[in-house]
Amino acid sequence: MIGAPVFIDRIGKAYGSQTAIGAVTLDIPAGEFLSILGPSGSGKTTLLTMIAGFESPSAGRVIIGGRDVTAMSPDRRNIGMVFQRYALFPHLTVAENIAFPLKMRGIRKEFRAERVDRALDLVQLPDYAKRYPHELSGGQQQRVAVARAIVFEPPVLLMDEPLGALDKKLRESMQLEIKQLQRRLGATVVYVTHDQEEALTMSDRIAVMARGELAQLGTPADIYCNPQSAFVADFVGKMNFLAGEFSNEIAGSRTIRLGDGVVIDTLGAVAGFAGSAKIGDRVRVALRPERLALAARGAGGKNVLPGRIETSVFAGSFDLHIVRTDFGSGEIIQVQIPTDGMREPFATGTPVDVIVERDGLRVFADAEG
Ligand SMILES: Nc1ncnc2c1ncn2[C@@H]1O[C@H](COP(=O)(O)OP(=O)(O)OP(=O)(O)O)[C@@H](O)[C@H]1O
Ligand SMILES: [Mg+2]
Repeated sequence: MIGAPVFIDRIGKAYGSQTAIGAVTLDIPAGEFLSILGPSGSGKTTLLTMIAGFESPSAGRVIIGGRDVTAMSPDRRNIGMVFQRYALFPHLTVAENIAFPLKMRGIRKEFRAERVDRALDLVQLPDYAKRYPHELSGGQQQRVAVARAIVFEPPVLLMDEPLGALDKKLRESMQLEIKQLQRRLGATVVYVTHDQEEALTMSDRIAVMARGELAQLGTPADIYCNPQSAFVADFVGKMNFLAGEFSNEIAGSRTIRLGDGVVIDTLGAVAGFAGSAKIGDRVRVALRPERLALAARGAGGKNVLPGRIETSVFAGSFDLHIVRTDFGSGEIIQVQIPTDGMREPFATGTPVDVIVERDGLRVFADAEG
């Protein structure tokens, strides 16, 4: 199977006076794994169902494999789809469920069985052909839904939170399976999720949606390391935010006053800011928990934030330290330090310095959400 490119051209959807999707443009090359990531209600399902053809857009076009399919019915678009809530036919066996799209396409019975078997092998359920959906676990049902979506070897595969109902362990193994399946098939995949970890691990690129608009489009590393707005910074990965304001410049670098005389140097990391920042402008400083270090109070140095340990907990691969700042209104900073059996735990109340590493800091205008 060879994937087909998908071009979504300024697509929009309004329900009455409410805009569910603004004018979203996405150019997805053949064989790409693109995730659509966003909070509940941001328009992910609406976008996907317009690509599939189950909803018609209020504006814009959908081009698949170079053909304008905007006016075409779903069954003529040759797209495999896994829905948000798995929708197997309860009265059909697993094999009959998977054979259904083949039957719809007029493929003769003797050819169907072999393709059903192959699809069952791909999702690693070879011995389940004769079972009924209610005799399967949630994860198995979901795999059958995936098998049904891929059995006719569609060049485009759309998946709407296909793993949402599964527990963490099963979700992670299914993520790997889906990813390997996609590589083997070469299909273009548009994968909807509200789980940022899932999007980061599975995708070639991620489209972050906010309120029906595209907030940012980029590779997982791009989205994580260079968020262009406080919204994306906050939604993808963990982030600490501190309120401050631009103060004067030191040697060409902006400084930010955080309160009570604590000043930090932005070290040039003023991305996500419209460029015209003036002294006194309110900003939000964003700090990734894993880009911070801790030291006993008074070590000195640049970009050091004084605080006190509120709690320290073991979290598996890292220790999580909750620090309350000694300046401003006493905000909370989360600090993640890779677990090191040798380290003495900090007692509650210990005065510490939170050290902001180079590149560990982003600055955003305060106005945006
Ligand atoms: N048939 C409809 N009629 C009116 N409004 C709708 C309809 N379908 C969706 N909406 C609205 O459009 C917006 C986007 O909905 P959508 O289902 O695309 O969100 P989502 O990102 O998939 O959310 P979730 O993560 O909860 O599945 C929501 O505000 C929703 O209420
Ligand atoms: Mg949805």
